Amino acid sequence: MPADDFSLSDDDLVRVRDALEDYTVDAVVEAIGDAGQASLGRNHTVAAERELGGRDDPLATLTRLFVLQQAVPERLVRRALPFQALVESRILERDGDTWRAAVDIRPYGSPDDGADGWLVSDHAATLDTARGAPRPDHVLGVSPASTTLAQLTIRRPVARALDLGTGCGVQSLHLAKHAQSIVATDLNPRALRLADLGLRLSGVSTDLRLGSLYEPVGDVPYDLVVTNPPFVMSPPAAAKFTYRESDFTADGLMQAIVEGAVDHLSPGGMLQVLGNWAHIAGEPWDERLGSWVAGTGCDTLVIQREVLDPYEYIEIWLADAGLAGTPGYRPAYETWMDYFDYLGVTGVGMGWLTLVNAGRTVPDVRIEGWPHAVEQPVGPALAAHFGAVDASRWADDQLLDHVWQLTDDVIQETLGAPGAEDPTHFVLRQQRGLRRAIEVDTALGGVLGACDGDLTLREILGAVAQLLGVSTVDLVADVLPRFRALVADAWFAAS
Ligand SMILES: C[S@@+](CC[C@H](N)C(=O)[O-])C[C@H]1O[C@@H](n2cnc3c(N)ncnc32)[C@H](O)[C@@H]1O
Repeated sequence: MPADDFSLSDDDLVRVRDALEDYTVDAVVEAIGDAGQASLGRNHTVAAERELGGRDDPLATLTRLFVLQQAVPERLVRRALPFQALVESRILERDGDTWRAAVDIRPYGSPDDGADGWLVSDHAATLDTARGAPRPDHVLGVSPASTTLAQLTIRRPVARALDLGTGCGVQSLHLAKHAQSIVATDLNPRALRLADLGLRLSGVSTDLRLGSLYEPVGDVPYDLVVTNPPFVMSPPAAAKFTYRESDFTADGLMQAIVEGAVDHLSPGGMLQVLGNWAHIAGEPWDERLGSWVAGTGCDTLVIQREVLDPYEYIEIWLADAGLAGTPGYRPAYETWMDYFDYLGVTGVGMGWLTLVNAGRTVPDVRIEGWPHAVEQPVGPALAAHFGAVDASRWADDQLLDHVWQLTDDVIQETLGAPGAEDPTHFVLRQQRGLRRAIEVDTALGGVLGACDGDLTLREILGAVAQLLGVSTVDLVADVLPRFRALVADAWFAAS
């Protein structure tokens, strides 16, 4: 057995699972308090430890062992867990007279879709200002990026889902809520071992496969592929961490995932990626990304959430590697900047990318920056976007003869100088989803205000033309293109 096999027999697994029964997210938060939880989120354990006080019950022991990474006396470990099984599996390691957990086992629960269970990962290397560097095959626990991907995933029922680069298995825990079968892959064997343990503890069945990108996924197409791949664009000579970077140049790994997807998607199947991409001098970023999907027939929505300048980007990832404050920091920084200069990288875009295997000759490709706050989980809003593509392509007469209804979250805001009699701007704003906003003039505002599911668009335009004293033909020519764009942006209840 390798030193870090971490495997448990079925019987031992049941016993461990029973021991973890009361070790839930809510119970831990109650034990360490909201402030302790918030402090842990900032990688500090002192607040949580003080909240636990002198408690030595099994919940406190599990929290100390796994969440706080503390050494615990053997008698307490024996009270909380099937001791022998965990020692034999090397999940527990001796530390003098006490025991430590070699890996992090922690409860997981999502308020978004009710996914829950336990996940196993490596301990964070930077707790309590420790400067430890992660091991090269470090298996990341649930990160803000994991949560963002889970929230942008469109959760419709699917037969086959692929969790590409599963890590600790968190996406599979979510996929289990709506996928009949799940294949989960990773290049890192350690990740597969830890994911296996966590998913078995959680009662989730996945087909775990070792290999890079689409290599191990087989020929049967998937209805949904989700991935939060190792997208960090680091220089070739740098020490690599499998959880965050690859051997591809710049954003080549993202490109390979996107370009390869269509061969593995069923008709209507979706790829959803959280990642980053290079902004290269002289090449508009949206055109670069557009070239990745050109010729695939896939409807595409790329939403760039933020753009970091190269310095900020490098500083974040050097700190993540545990280099901050070490002699290696400055040389690594210089090497990384030289690499970016060589590639012409002027910035790094971060965001969400969804492809739908629509099989269209002319697919709907939308690549945009949207840095504003959105409603989370945002998956339903992305689903609404793709659901609106067909209607946004209707012929003019079909648009005109349809009865439209603005979604019920849209509100109108008026803006103007203080004390002025009339507002100077009218803005319609979605309260939900992507929370888009548009400024409307009297004509478009009047038309949209009447879209309440009663009259056809043609009837509304006729009435508004009369009110404004303009010709209906002119009004249609003015409003219809803008109306079509709003259909594409899912401003109306599904047709
Ligand atoms: C950022 S982690 C994401 C983990 C998890 N999916 C999540 O949402 O938190 C990226 C994962 O991809 C894996 N990985 C790295 N290179 C890969 C490759 N070429 N093919 C498949 N997986 C890879 C890493 O080992 C790691 O587990």
